[in-house]
Amino acid sequence: MGRLEGKVALITGAGAGIGRATALLFAEEGAKVMVADFVPAGGHETVKMIKEAGGQAAFVEADVSKSADVQRMVNLTVDTFGRLDILFNNAGIQSKFMMTADTPEEAWDRIFATNIKGVFLGSKHAIPVMLQQGSGVIISTASAAGVIGLPGTGAYGASKAGIISLTRTMALEYADRNIRVNCISPGTIMTSMSPGAIDPENVPPFHQSQAMRRFAQPGEVATVALYLASNDSSFVTGTNTVVDGGYTAGVPKQKPKKPATG
Ligand SMILES: NC(=O)c1ccc[n+]([C@@H]2O[C@H](COP(=O)([O-])OP(=O)(O)OC[C@H]3O[C@@H](n4cnc5c(N)ncnc54)[C@H](O)[C@@H]3O)[C@@H](O)[C@H]2O)c1
Repeated sequence: MGRLEGKVALITGAGAGIGRATALLFAEEGAKVMVADFVPAGGHETVKMIKEAGGQAAFVEADVSKSADVQRMVNLTVDTFGRLDILFNNAGIQSKFMMTADTPEEAWDRIFATNIKGVFLGSKHAIPVMLQQGSGVIISTASAAGVIGLPGTGAYGASKAGIISLTRTMALEYADRNIRVNCISPGTIMTSMSPGAIDPENVPPFHQSQAMRRFAQPGEVATVALYLASNDSSFVTGTNTVVDGGYTAGVPKQKPKKPATG
């Protein structure tokens, strides 16, 4: 029996990267998965992959920065699968690296609308369902950039720090109503968003300083999301789990002779 048997999960940004890897893993562990993304092609592909593996999934097109889309995405999850046990607020965007004074207001607003307002809206619309059910789990994807300063990522890092703060507040607000709220802060993960994936030969120096001297695969974040979604973490709420190969632990003392294995 899977660790999420009988559970219903709604995952945003599930058409690619970390969201897709998590959708596949949750389905493999028995969850019915609502795949949400504002890019239909990626979302449909994730659903196809889940079904081919014998799991249950459906797709909803939704932009997490738009309240009406998010309300519809939550409603459709309940209408399709009967409940909503796990919300994974994972959709997020990054921009090119820009010093603060060079950051256009439009870029700042766009990043905040998706990254932090998206988490707020997802939680706002899912919590009433969870309160009615008497239980629920909310997980959000923050970032190592929200834990430490990173030159050139002011808007992104500030939005992700906001997710860590909102996670703690919501955890306190709903702990006695059986809703657990946690977030995950990945380091550099090999997805379309990571500089390592886009241009492996030209990664900014701070991205190369992870103590384990390698970038992670999306599945290495998905396994942490599974832990937070399942009863394995039944007494865990209000936390930020860093998944960064030691990146935020400090400056690596010396370069290891060979990469640490995953
Ligand atoms: N890749 C990394 O190195 C890294 C590091 C730290 C944090 N993160 C965070 O992980 C999360 C997932 O990113 P990823 O690396 O898998 O990137 P990705 O680009 O592979 O996937 C992101 C998905 O989110 C979707 N999306 C973006 N904006 C959306 C919106 N407004 N509404 C709905 N869907 C939207 C995209 O279409 C895409 O399918 C993001 O929140 C990102 O900030 C990534």
